[in-house]
Parts: sequence; C-alpha cells; structure tokens
Amino acid sequence: MHVKLSPARIWAANAITAILDHGHSMDDFLAGSNGFTAMSQRDRALARAIAGTVLRRLGQVDIILALYLAKPLPPKTGLMRAILRCATAEILFLRSPAFAIVSEAVSMAASKGKTRAFRHLANAVLRKVAAEGPERLKEIPATVNIPDWLCQSWQEAYGEAAIEEAAKVLIEDQPTDLTVFRELADWTEKLSGTPIGEQSLRISPSDRQAGDITKWTGFEGGAWQVQDVAAALPALILKPRAEEYIIDLCAAPGGKTAQLAASGARVTAVERSQSRLTRLDQNMKRLGLNVQSVCADALQWKPETLADAVLVDAPCTATGIFRRHPDVLALKTPEQVNDMAERQFSILKAAASMLRPGGRLIYCVCSAQVEEGEEIARRALEELPLGPLAIETGPLSYVETFIKENYLRIPPGAWDDKGGLDAFYIAAFTRQ
Ligand SMILES: C[S@@+](CC[C@H](N)C(=O)[O-])C[C@H]1O[C@@H](n2cnc3c(N)ncnc32)[C@H](O)[C@@H]1O
Repeated sequence: MHVKLSPARIWAANAITAILDHGHSMDDFLAGSNGFTAMSQRDRALARAIAGTVLRRLGQVDIILALYLAKPLPPKTGLMRAILRCATAEILFLRSPAFAIVSEAVSMAASKGKTRAFRHLANAVLRKVAAEGPERLKEIPATVNIPDWLCQSWQEAYGEAAIEEAAKVLIEDQPTDLTVFRELADWTEKLSGTPIGEQSLRISPSDRQAGDITKWTGFEGGAWQVQDVAAALPALILKPRAEEYIIDLCAAPGGKTAQLAASGARVTAVERSQSRLTRLDQNMKRLGLNVQSVCADALQWKPETLADAVLVDAPCTATGIFRRHPDVLALKTPEQVNDMAERQFSILKAAASMLRPGGRLIYCVCSAQVEEGEEIARRALEELPLGPLAIETGPLSYVETFIKENYLRIPPGAWDDKGGLDAFYIAAFTRQ
C-alpha cells in the first residue's frame, strides 16, 4: 500500500536526528532548514508538536521503545532512531490514530536506503507501542524526562520537590510572556493576558491567538517583545534611570537592552556575534528605541567613560530555560558547566572594570546550575572590587519568595501551578 508521507513527520524526524544524534540545537536546525517555513501552518504546528514532544518526553519515549526493541539499534541507521522516537511520542502523547502513525513510520523507513532494512522491525515495535505502550507508560514517572546528571545537581541544590516540579512544567503547554513597553492595561485587554508586575503580560495557551506571533496586534508597531517573566527581571532589578549611562554586556538579541533603553537611559549594547548584533539592531528598530550597538568581545572592549550601571547577561549552559527550549536537556553536559563558569567570571571581572565607583552591576544567567550563579557571585564578592547591593522587593512582590538580600534565585520548576517560570540567577552589586 502506498502511504503519502507528511512533510511535518519528515521534518520532525530530521530535526530529532540533528538534535539528538548530531548535537545541534533546535534554533540552529531551524535557522538552517528552509523546509520549516515552506510548510503550511498546520504542518508547522504538527512538526513542532512531534519534535517538541520527543524532547519533552525523551526519557519516557526511550524507556517504552527499549521494552520492545530486542536489542539497541546499531549506531549508523540514518533517521531510524528518530522515526521510532517521533512515532512513539505521537502515539503515546499526541493522540493521533495509531494505525496511521505506524504505517507512515514504516513507509518513511522504507523510503530511504539506510532505514529500509529496519522497516519490519519498525512495524513490529510500533504496533507493540500502540497496543501496550499507554498502559506501560503509567509505571514511568515524568521525572525520567530530566537527565540523571541534572536531577542529581538540582536535587542537591534545590531538593527533591524541585525535580517533580521541573518534570511537571517540562511537559506542559507553555504560556506566552510579553514585556510591554507602554499601556500595559490596554494590551492586557487586547491580547487577553494577565499582567504580572510593571511590564509583563502572560497569555495562557488557551487564550493565545493561533499562528505566527509576529502577526499579533502590536508586534509591528513595537508595543511589546516576547520575553519570559523571569528574563524581564534583571533589567527591572537594575532600575534604569533616564539619561544615565548603562552598558549592556553580552546583549543580543536585545531583550534586556530594550527594557533599559525604554527607560530613557543612554545604552551601549556590546555583543561578540555580528549576526546576533544585527538581530538586536533590527529589534531596536522595530521597538523604536535608540541604542549604541557595538560588535566586540566583552573581555577586550573598554568604554570611553565609566558607566553608571552595567548589566551582564553572561553566556551560560541555559539549563534554566528547559521548559521553552527542551533541547538543552539533551545537549548540555557537566563539562560545559565548568567551562562556562570560567568564562562567566572573566566577563564579570571585565564588567566591574567598566563601572564608576558607586555604580550598579547586575550579573545574571538563565542557568539552573549553582556553579554559574551562586558560585560566581560568591567569588566576585571575594575577588573583585564589588559589594552586595540589596534588591528592592516592593515592585517585585510576585517573585519576592525568590529574593534573598542581593540576589534572586528562581529554581527549576518554579511556578509549576501557574504555567512555569524560567530558572534564573540574578545578583546585584555595587562598585566599591
Ligand atoms: C544569554 S545571551 C544574551 C541575551 C540578551 N541579554 C537578551 O536579553 O536578549 C548571551 C550573549 O552573549 C554573547 N557573548 C558570549 N561571549 C561574549 C563575549 N565574550 N563578549 C560579548 N558577547 C558575548 C553571545 O553571543 C550571546 O548573544
């Protein structure tokens, strides 16, 4: 029987192979694949749902598959592993008719040289998954979707409950968070959202308009930008003032730069990657904000005058953004945490040298690893000319529980009853 292959399923299998077998990030795969934009809106939604479900449910998917694969697949089998993972995720979690998924997966395997030899195996395994998988799944907790090394490190840092909460937010449909630059009340009504603090608007998956976010009302006119509630906090904690000179180090794509510039401060955005800086410039143009952007390495660049404030959003392993970017769970390693910590401390040291005495410095990372957050801040207080700066909790009452004097730590799994929050570490200092 001839089965027509859906472009969404082919795309998903390719994305999962690129990410899980070849170590590419989802963003890089998307940037290099014209196939995604060429698909219809419906196919794009299905492709995202399948690939996203494999990444969010990888532990459960692989345990179920292992039950029915007599021995592990050999290494060089092209898309075969991804075809099995995608079909299993779809059968177990997306409630599509199982017979159609199985026959399409078998046809996909039959259509390529490297996978053809496995088509009968795919048929046998996926039929078992369809028949027995939903029942067997009940014995497999969602915590297996978080890799062991992260479970161990998060358990040590935040306790057992954080793992359960992280596992819960990982498999949920995520809300869309916007940072609104003016008339928050108006946009709350227009976009059916819930305002959070002074600038954020959370739109739940059920209230969200369908389709491309760049087509939503207010995007073109620059009324708002997409930004997780947690990612908006560093600039709010810095409390930018009109006319002061602020350096945003490691700035692209400019989410925090925009918040700083919208306050009327004179902002210099420093970013090492030219392509990312171009995106920052485009974003500032859309938002109607005036920023001086500089393509430079934060470790080499020196400002002409010392700044009133510096914001350092350091490069990091990004393990804290696992709920919006679940590929980080598979891609990051403990070795990368240690490499990052060295770079982060060097960048923070350079940042301190750009600041006038009495100036404010905010250091932040979207990592849930204490080596990249708490440890860096502790070292900074010991080794750099920086003192702690108390964070004012008044306007930040919605995250008050995460604030301790001069730092704010959002653990993985935070707000598990309210749609989740990216894990972040933010520390405030003053230059001595
Ligand atoms: C976490 S992202 C910044 C996100 C940004 N602050 C925002 O809110 O949209 C870190 C950025 O630092 C840049 N970067 C990494 N090392 C750098 C360095 N040594 N100097 C300048 N930029 C650097 C990366 O290219 C990346 O764009």
